[in-house]
Amino acid sequence: MDPRLIESSIRDDIAACATPDDLEAARVKYLGRKGALTAFLRSIGDAGAEERPRLGAEANRLKALVEELLDARRAEIGGLDDNELYVAPVDGTLPASGGAVGRRHVISQTLRRIKSILEGMGYRLARGPEVELEYYNFQALNFPEEHPSRDLQDTFYVSKDILLRTHTSPIQVRFMEEHKPPLKIYAPGRVYRNEAIDPSHAAEFHQVEGLYIDTDVSMADLRGDLQFFLRGLFGPDTDLRFKPHFFPFTEPSIDVDMTCFGCNGSGCGICGQTGWIEILGAGMVHPNVLRAVGYDPDRYSGFAFGIGVDRIAMIRHGITDIRMFLANELRFLEQFPEMES
Ligand code: DAH
Repeated sequence: MDPRLIESSIRDDIAACATPDDLEAARVKYLGRKGALTAFLRSIGDAGAEERPRLGAEANRLKALVEELLDARRAEIGGLDDNELYVAPVDGTLPASGGAVGRRHVISQTLRRIKSILEGMGYRLARGPEVELEYYNFQALNFPEEHPSRDLQDTFYVSKDILLRTHTSPIQVRFMEEHKPPLKIYAPGRVYRNEAIDPSHAAEFHQVEGLYIDTDVSMADLRGDLQFFLRGLFGPDTDLRFKPHFFPFTEPSIDVDMTCFGCNGSGCGICGQTGWIEILGAGMVHPNVLRAVGYDPDRYSGFAFGIGVDRIAMIRHGITDIRMFLANELRFLEQFPEMES
């Protein structure tokens, strides 16, 4: 038999092997007791004396070739036992598949949007501590000594005089203590309340405070700024409605409703068919608050507002459970690709 024919059939057969079983079949076909190479080796004995060394060397070369090709092919297809899983060979020249890239939390995205609008209106950033003195959280904001929200049931106390701030309003006081009017600030941050947790109540959430103090600031200025701000957040058709309310640190105080984002005012599930959504609290800064920071209430006046960031994110994105924001659940977080702000 012509060794060149044997060699080309060896190469074709082994290249066509796809599984460990195929490799074993190819080995038997050439090296087995009844294999082609074995038969070739046996036939050498019949050849002439001068032919034998050449044929013998040829047979050894082919035998080594079969073993080498089997090893190489085994390495390519994974070379596993029947009991093991077949693993496709890795092609190291392929481009890598995209790695996981994070994104901003939906609350951070909302805060950035708020920040960009307010900074465009001339509000500058102010900050304050999350662990706060009771004085700044309550007293200086004109909360009466026995006000119910001071109660342990609503407030997390660290000690008698120190607590986790229940709102961002204390930042107003801290900033006014350090600065003379006129001033216009916004103050974002995390706040804490000892709430019974449910889909619309969390023990930690986020607020942004706004404060503007100057001579002759009026309720009309408040309305103008809130309207501009909320239209920036929710679109140009957003209208506002003021309702009288009570906060210790403002007089008069108001609750502000805006045109429902879901139905544009015609009534839907989000607004309970009223066409309006309660969105923030606001008012004219109480003279007692101005006095507490050494401002003369006869000379200066101002407005303040406080808005819940979580609530805004919920309305903008149709999120129905506030607890999702802090659940660290990727399937939730991945639904909010970065928006431009
Ligand atoms: N601090 C209030 C709260 O947490 C929100 C608020 C209402 C802030 C009226 C204000 C304001 O600045 O004027 O419920």
